[in-house]
Amino acid sequence: MSHADPSRRWTLRGAHTEYTVAVPAHGRWLELVAWGPHGVSEGPSPVEYTGPVPFLTAGDAAPIEYATDAARPFTGADLIVETGSGDRRIGFEYVDAEGDDTRLAVTFADPVTGLRAVVHYQVPAGTDVVSRWVELTNTGPEPLRLVRAGSAGFCVPTPHGARLSYQWGQWAQEFQLDHVDLGHGAFTVGSAQGVPGHLHLPWLAVRDQADPTGPTWGVALAWTGSWEITAERDTGGLTRVRAGRRLVDGPLDLPSGGRLTLPTVSGAYSPDGLDGLARVWHTHQRRLAGERLTPRPVLYNSWEATYFAVDAENQLALARVAADLGVETFVVDDGWFVGRDDDTAGLGDWTPDPAKFPAGFDAFVKEVRGLGMNFGLWVEPECVNPRSRLYAEHPDWVYAVHGRPLTPIRNQYLLDLGRPEVAEFVHSTVDGLLRRHDIGYLKWDFNRPRTEPGRPGTEAAGNAARIDLDGAHVANLHRIYEQLRRDHPHVLIEACAGGGARTDLAMAARADVFWPSDNTGPLDRLAIQYGFLHANAPHLLSSWVTDSPGLFDPRPRSLAFRFVLAMAGVLGIGADIRHWTAEQRAEASRWIARYKEIREIIMHGTVHLVGGPDQPRCAVQYTAPDGATVVVLAWHTGRLDGAGLLPSRPVRLPLAGLDPAAGYRHGDVHYSGSHLGAVGLPVRWSADHDAELVVLQRV
Ligand code: GLA
Repeated sequence: MSHADPSRRWTLRGAHTEYTVAVPAHGRWLELVAWGPHGVSEGPSPVEYTGPVPFLTAGDAAPIEYATDAARPFTGADLIVETGSGDRRIGFEYVDAEGDDTRLAVTFADPVTGLRAVVHYQVPAGTDVVSRWVELTNTGPEPLRLVRAGSAGFCVPTPHGARLSYQWGQWAQEFQLDHVDLGHGAFTVGSAQGVPGHLHLPWLAVRDQADPTGPTWGVALAWTGSWEITAERDTGGLTRVRAGRRLVDGPLDLPSGGRLTLPTVSGAYSPDGLDGLARVWHTHQRRLAGERLTPRPVLYNSWEATYFAVDAENQLALARVAADLGVETFVVDDGWFVGRDDDTAGLGDWTPDPAKFPAGFDAFVKEVRGLGMNFGLWVEPECVNPRSRLYAEHPDWVYAVHGRPLTPIRNQYLLDLGRPEVAEFVHSTVDGLLRRHDIGYLKWDFNRPRTEPGRPGTEAAGNAARIDLDGAHVANLHRIYEQLRRDHPHVLIEACAGGGARTDLAMAARADVFWPSDNTGPLDRLAIQYGFLHANAPHLLSSWVTDSPGLFDPRPRSLAFRFVLAMAGVLGIGADIRHWTAEQRAEASRWIARYKEIREIIMHGTVHLVGGPDQPRCAVQYTAPDGATVVVLAWHTGRLDGAGLLPSRPVRLPLAGLDPAAGYRHGDVHYSGSHLGAVGLPVRWSADHDAELVVLQRV
């Protein structure tokens, strides 16, 4: 292709990166020219295709930014549209473009159907992220149906084969970072669950196999429903990543005059491998948090201590100890509302149970607050148990397919949040709780995927009234979160979905913190947090110190290990602290006090992931923005190597990004930055020393 026409070539500039696209002379699509460090676009395009395309079309090999099925008929399109008569093959022609070096909107139109697509780009200030979305408008007379409605294609040069990194999981085992080498063909992750899900994270990283720690490109989706990311490597060495919604409810209708904006998908670039890519995502999410990037409180959550057997007495017993330890927010988890003694009943009836709070709920909240803590509450407002008043009154509010049995999961059904009356119920329920009671923290849970693709009462209209249930649910969820934040700016919201099934960039922009997993067992948790931090910033990582051995991971670790682990993000405690000894409590108080000293650096610091949970060395380094303080959290994951009994040398944790010429002090020990980078920070593990918190000061 010729990129000769400079009026059809645009470069978007990020903090250290640039992204250049152009419309070829034929005008049928937009292509990537280059994506990488500043200046990368000056020179022959690394993704340009030259040579013949036997048995293919030119578009199948071209690095197309947003491909229709006419442009890319064989190797995979982003957009497939059907007309009323069942015709496919949308083909675009370039109309115009506008933008500057951080924004671009390129408009295309299909002369046959009248479908217009505006392909949008935006580089959020100070980041190395390119956020993209597409706005479709049907300007023609006929209704159209979107059979596939991807958000974007990202092209990555992988001449020697692609190495993909992705995250898989399941309940209690989320954020498992794994890698696959892709020679040719496709690799897909996704969710059909109406929620991003436990199974895969809407996040993918791509680099060339020959340089696995070098230039790395990432793609992440801002969509809290069903989704799909596919990476496909072609015979010419290009890996194209398609990302967007998975249309689980069937094609989307776009009537004449209709307009639809598809979810934003972001691309990220780092020259420094997966670890560098993590920092690019962290910067982006910190920008998304904006003014809400304030120090998160140390919290206590009562779930693992009392489960459903919540009552004022046991909660206050926990709260008194928590306050003594230095906890700042006390959160009552599931079990506080009427009918909720186990997971078979109660969801939907969001009234405090008077039997559990005999002096009244507000008197209880007041007592917690009287201990000097903020008060938080768990809710799961999109779900309902069949055994509840809400379900008795509104059985038609749940997703259901006419004539077919409902699928209970955890004994509950899912409310159809896309219905205006349900959205109103969910909003007013949560808003009402926040108005009535003195609540400063909300844990919003979601404990089941959507199984039934149907809305009672709409069957008669058949296909003509097909509803985008997934889209409507997500849109209302986002709107309610935004409304609650606006009306209750001081309430922090933790997003949870049976652990980490609801973490995507859209939620990172609307929630203050994520609950990544119900698994708080130390070594399992280490692996979960390691994956999490590759895609998410530390301010989003809620983590609790729980009792050992706990529910999941029976491998015991010290209290120090569990504290240092939870300090890697937002520190919380979930143990039954009523039973902690005086020594345990004293140790906990010391850790909490130390956390308060370093949490600004955890929140804002530059993160380097050292080693990994299955390697002899495993640490996270947080360097303060001014570079003067470096916090290192390190964990001993296994082998003792004869420590104490045989000659041994300490493990060395190589630190990154320090000034080699500067000196750094830890207590009485002085290091040069060069030493810390080249040799590493020494840590000596032993049977009773399995975690370390080191704060280095530049001298
Ligand atoms: C989910 C959450 C847990 C807890 C329970 C309560 O499993 O992930 O943290 O809140 O629900 O039922």
